[in-house]
Amino acid sequence: MGIKVAVVGAGYWGPNIIRNFNQIPTCEMAICCDKDEKRLAHMSRLYPNLKTTTSYDDIINDPTIDAVAVCTHVSAHYPLAKKALEAGKHVLVEKPLTAKVEEAEELVELSKKNDKVLMVDHTFEYTAGVNKMKEIIESGLLGDVLYVNCARLNLGIFQRDINVVWDLAPHDLSVILYATGLKPKSVRTVGMKLLHPKVEDAAFVTLNCGDASAVIHVSWVDPRKVRTVSVVGTKQMLVYDDLDPLAKIQIYDKGVENPPHYDTFGEFLCSYHYGDIHMPRLQEAEPLSVMCKHFLECCETGKAPRSSGLSGLNMVKILAASDKSIANGGMEIPID
Ligand SMILES: NC(=O)c1ccc[n+]([C@@H]2O[C@H](COP(=O)([O-])OP(=O)(O)OC[C@H]3O[C@@H](n4cnc5c(N)ncnc54)[C@H](O)[C@@H]3O)[C@@H](O)[C@H]2O)c1
Repeated sequence: MGIKVAVVGAGYWGPNIIRNFNQIPTCEMAICCDKDEKRLAHMSRLYPNLKTTTSYDDIINDPTIDAVAVCTHVSAHYPLAKKALEAGKHVLVEKPLTAKVEEAEELVELSKKNDKVLMVDHTFEYTAGVNKMKEIIESGLLGDVLYVNCARLNLGIFQRDINVVWDLAPHDLSVILYATGLKPKSVRTVGMKLLHPKVEDAAFVTLNCGDASAVIHVSWVDPRKVRTVSVVGTKQMLVYDDLDPLAKIQIYDKGVENPPHYDTFGEFLCSYHYGDIHMPRLQEAEPLSVMCKHFLECCETGKAPRSSGLSGLNMVKILAASDKSIANGGMEIPID
């Protein structure tokens, strides 16, 4: 019955992955592993036919399991994914791929060597909004991208093993890398430990992408939930608001008509162009369902995943450079 899937980690996020694999008729959501028996008891109540185990070796040593989805905290991604790849299984890893660049490099090499799929859950690459954004930018409607401004703010959820940049910025970085075509060359990050004594809970990440820049503001200590990406182009501007139920994508036909030099207020008004705001219709589907189906298709056909191990590695390089920048007071750090 198609690909037989195991999920390791059934805390906050893992159950979403289990639910989505469970709903796909062409795969078998076979077994779930967690160190915490309470989480396994909860999963058994939700899915009485789902096998559960506290021993990851039950998955690794089962030759009938084709694929493993790793949904644990970040520092456990590498050892669990490595073991699964070594056992000849396809692997889906939650974002970010690993906690260190060398670990991500090793997993990418291992997946190549063993000819197994390594994919990262960069969830936003599977949303209708981000794919529409990519289509619009590639069509040239916005002109050249001048800058991208992302805000991902909320009160909580605090993580223990990673700072706010590793937790939240992967979403914005994946949107920037996938949809805008910008290629970050260096990063400067100012990180703040506001409520947490050891871990940055708010940060400003600035990416130098050659002719354009991108700024990502992430915070666990902001009063309002905000999830926006603004793309300012030479011709038009686009705002993606993930929380807007009706108008996730808005294209503003606004811009500067002439170089902004003027002597009178009348000339000032004439130098700007104010047109319509366009809201394209999106064909929404649950992004995790699209992502899980894509993973299964890659396992079955050998097709390279959209959010491949290599794209996960590129993201980890930016996150590691960002940490270096924070440690050096916001110094500009090149990205290899
Ligand atoms: N794609 C998204 O939008 C999204 C959203 C939230 C979280 N995430 C990612 O999901 C992952 C999990 O985050 P979370 O918030 O669910 O964490 P969590 O701490 O709530 O859950 C992790 C679970 O993994 C289990 N676990 C840890 N190590 C294990 C091991 N070696 N063997 C078996 N079980 C083990 C823990 O007992 C826990 O139940 C993280 O990588 C996070 O970045 C992704």
